[in-house]
Amino acid sequence: MEILTTKKELRAYLDTYHSHQKIALVPTMGALHQGHLSLIREAQKVADLVVCSIFVNPTQFNDPNDLEKYPRPIEQDISLLQSIACDVLFMPHVEEIYPDPNESWHIDLGQLDKIWEGLHRPGHFQGVTQVVYKLFQAVKPHIACFGQKDFQQIMVVQRMLDLTRLPVQLLICPIVRDEEGLALSSRNARLSPAGKKSALVISKALRAVKNDFSESTPEVLQQKGTQIIQEEPDVKLEYFAICETQTLAKATTIAHGKQYIAIAAAWVEGVRLIDNMLLYV
Ligand code: PAF
Repeated sequence: MEILTTKKELRAYLDTYHSHQKIALVPTMGALHQGHLSLIREAQKVADLVVCSIFVNPTQFNDPNDLEKYPRPIEQDISLLQSIACDVLFMPHVEEIYPDPNESWHIDLGQLDKIWEGLHRPGHFQGVTQVVYKLFQAVKPHIACFGQKDFQQIMVVQRMLDLTRLPVQLLICPIVRDEEGLALSSRNARLSPAGKKSALVISKALRAVKNDFSESTPEVLQQKGTQIIQEEPDVKLEYFAICETQTLAKATTIAHGKQYIAIAAAWVEGVRLIDNMLLYV
């Protein structure tokens, strides 16, 4: 695996590939787990060359404490990437991505910047689109793989692509869960075994609304999911909602043949977790 830290080295390496060869990018912030590895495996199926980026992007952290505590097990990440034969690891320093620390960035994300993750993490999606735009410009991938766990993130990245007209195709990969149902996340590393057990209530609530989806209303389902999570004293619920997949607006009715999504965010042991589940009739 090539390990590259500058855009110049990256371009020099990628320019040796033929233009008909497909490049896929898997952007990450490291602390890799099986969810990331599944993204790399999906990328390997659709591309000739897979680049994984590891960059803990400061501009997307609305909480400095979260940025500071973000896990950075780089040696372990490199071994994992080597074990699945990832072609290139791009791990730039902050100055490589942000040579001008005062650089400003703002794109119109519409409602997506004002609801759910946009509302609870002000500025987060501006930071995400800023860094993803820079990574796309550096790598020039044909395809970029993102996990469904960050569903709203995929929507904002698609919106950024629509606005900037960068020709990148997004590939959405399914959520990977542990045996008990907890959605894999780099943040889980900060949970104690007891915290992980409490956090299971989030996927339990999502599964419960999925089971009842065909015989219920969005309002009843929302109450049900909320109640299940609130019954766990060590979990502090931020939101639980049944939404339209196109806009993430709260669903008011359920139309047959249409897809919906249940989304949740909650705090466990000071760690903020998100999860979701697609719903169909
Ligand atoms: O999902 C993540 O890990 C990050 O938000 C991303 C897409 C790598 C941008 O920093």
